[in-house]
Formats: sequence, structure tokens, C-alpha cells
Amino acid sequence: MSFTVAIDGPAAAGKGTVSRAVAAHFGFAHLDTGLLYRAVGAKVLEGADAVEAARTLVADDLTGDLRAPGVAQAASRVAAEPQVRAALVDFQRAFAARAGGAVLDGRDIGTVICPEAQAKLFVTASAEVRAGRRWRELCEAGHDVTFDAVLADVRERDARDSERATAPLRPAEDAVVIDTSEMSIDEAVAAAIAVVEEKRGERA
Ligand code: CDP
Repeated sequence: MSFTVAIDGPAAAGKGTVSRAVAAHFGFAHLDTGLLYRAVGAKVLEGADAVEAARTLVADDLTGDLRAPGVAQAASRVAAEPQVRAALVDFQRAFAARAGGAVLDGRDIGTVICPEAQAKLFVTASAEVRAGRRWRELCEAGHDVTFDAVLADVRERDARDSERATAPLRPAEDAVVIDTSEMSIDEAVAAAIAVVEEKRGERA
């Protein structure tokens, strides 16, 4: 039987960590949908056409250093193109419907990709906290970036993601909002697991 957990939220909110932990806890599969947009963005930086890149995306394209700040910006630009988003819908919906449960994280999972998801979370934090976390992550991965540059990137992508006409970033009406500004990772994970546990109970 399928069970879909939709986890949305702004840039660097900790969706990835929370999603991986929820998936591991329940034995569900996990799809980081941001990687799809990052892969398309990376191809555009290499000169490809965005829509063509989205239509012909293969698993191998999801490897490599897609976390680089330049790729994140390119991802948020291609993500505003309706035809790019349309080309990625079927893959995401098929993943969500797989037997055994699935966690998808992104910007529009609870609103557009899986409006019927059994559990919806919106994971957020202040822009400063998110930028701080992402800055440390990038430094540890060997990227040479300043906190101010990361904060500017986070703010710019938040604005573009929230203001675009197609599938803008916003919580679904029935999403549970988890603000992790003052939470440790363990606390955020525990809060997310508790929500999913409750929804599973409602369904049983
Ligand atoms: O990890 P982070 O939150 O920084 O970014 P990401 O989740 O990897 O997403 C990169 C970019 O892809 C975002 O800024 C969005 O513009 C876009 N995206 C989207 O539009 N819809 C999704 N479901 C996932 C990502």
C-alpha cells in the first residue's frame, strides 16, 4: 500500500535531513525533488536548453556536485519555467505512489505534486538560521563562500520561489508547519516523525 509524506519548505530549512530521517524511521523511499531542478540547472549552465534537459533527464544526471551555490541559483531560475516543472511531474507522482511508502521533499509537493498526500509538513526557519546552517555545510564540503553570500542566495531564491506564478512556495492548507529556528536537528526530526505517526494512526 502507498503512503506519501510531502515535506516542503524554503531554501536550506533542513528538509533534506528531516526527510531522510523520516524515510529511514518508517522504511519509506526518499526523493529529494530539489535534485531534479538542480540537475536541470547544471545542464543549463553547460549550455543546454532547460525544457529539453528536463524532458531527457536520466538517473546519472543526479550525481556530481549539484550542491554548489551557482547550481542552486540556476535551479531556482529553471524551476520558474512552467514547461520544466510539467516535464518533471510524472516521475515525481510515480515515485510518490510506489508501494511501501515514500517521502518527497521540495517546494510544491503538498500543493501540486501530491495534494492527496497522507502527511504534509512545511519545514521552515528564519533566513539567518537557514543561511548559517547552509554556510557551515558548504564550508565543510570545501566550498569557498561567505555567510553574507549564502544569506543573499537564500533570500533571492526564497523570493523567486515564492513569487513565481507556477507552483509557488507556500504551505498546503492542511500542512503542519515546523519552525526549526530554535530546534536541534534531533528535535526537528522527532517533531516530524510524531506528525507522520499520527497520520498513519488516523489511516489505520
Ligand atoms: O536544499 P535547498 O533547499 O537549498 O534547495 P533544493 O531543495 O535543492 O532546491 C533548489 C531549487 O529548486 C529551489 O530554490 C527551487 O527553486 C527549486 N525547486 C522547486 O522549485 N520545486 C521543488 N519541488 C524542489 C526544488
